[in-house]
Amino acid sequence: MEPTVPSSPTVPSVPSVPADPSVRAGQALYTRSFLRAYDTLVYRVNSPLTWRCPKARLVALYDRHVSARHLDIGVATGVLLDECRFPVPMPDLTLMDLNPHSLATASHRLRRYAPRLHRADVLRPWGLPAGLVDSVGMFHLLHCLPGTLQDKAVVFEHARQVLRPGGTLFGATIPGTGVRHNRSARWQLSLANRRGIMCNRRDRLEDLDAALGKVFSDHEVTVVGSVALFSAR
Ligand SMILES: C[S@@+](CC[C@H](N)C(=O)[O-])C[C@H]1O[C@@H](n2cnc3c(N)ncnc32)[C@H](O)[C@@H]1O
Repeated sequence: MEPTVPSSPTVPSVPSVPADPSVRAGQALYTRSFLRAYDTLVYRVNSPLTWRCPKARLVALYDRHVSARHLDIGVATGVLLDECRFPVPMPDLTLMDLNPHSLATASHRLRRYAPRLHRADVLRPWGLPAGLVDSVGMFHLLHCLPGTLQDKAVVFEHARQVLRPGGTLFGATIPGTGVRHNRSARWQLSLANRRGIMCNRRDRLEDLDAALGKVFSDHEVTVVGSVALFSAR
């Protein structure tokens, strides 16, 4: 039985999971049992050892850019949002994910902020009001999406629409090329791409840079280990 995902009082939710199997594959891993192991597996093992980008670097990116009206997409357990410092005690927080287990897990963890929940596919129109927020966070989401970074770049256009003028998109992704992958990273990339959990073999660092540059007037991409950290406004 699926957990009950409270629907937002102000934001409409997309009820059905899209038919595209490659999109479904990118979020199918996030079952309740996997989410219980997520923080340990991802942030105690994979991030520091395989991708060589410690959690503290990601939390620092949040601390720099997160605003009082924030939308986070691809939330899993909500660990980064839990650890970051919002500029106000009670931010206006919206969580968006295609997977109801991720939404339920993150919203429970972040219940002190009473977040709104929005179930939607980031590759399709988001169905959120224009100018809703001052910041959008998108961490470790792009490498779960099917296609090349050129195909995935539609999400930057969607982000620009929900951001108020001057607002910031920020996040992290693991490109397949343009960064240095150690042996463990190469093995995990190969396995995860074969299983459809990740789809980033053809994600090129320079395509990320170009795609952000097309949509935003100002952007920055920094590489830490195998991970590209980005921000754009
Ligand atoms: C690797 S987790 C990232 C979690 C968290 N942001 C972090 O950095 O630890 C990816 C999340 O993206 C969600 N996701 C995958 N494909 C999606 C899609 N097409 N639209 C919206 N969310 C998606 C998954 O359900 C999962 O919660």
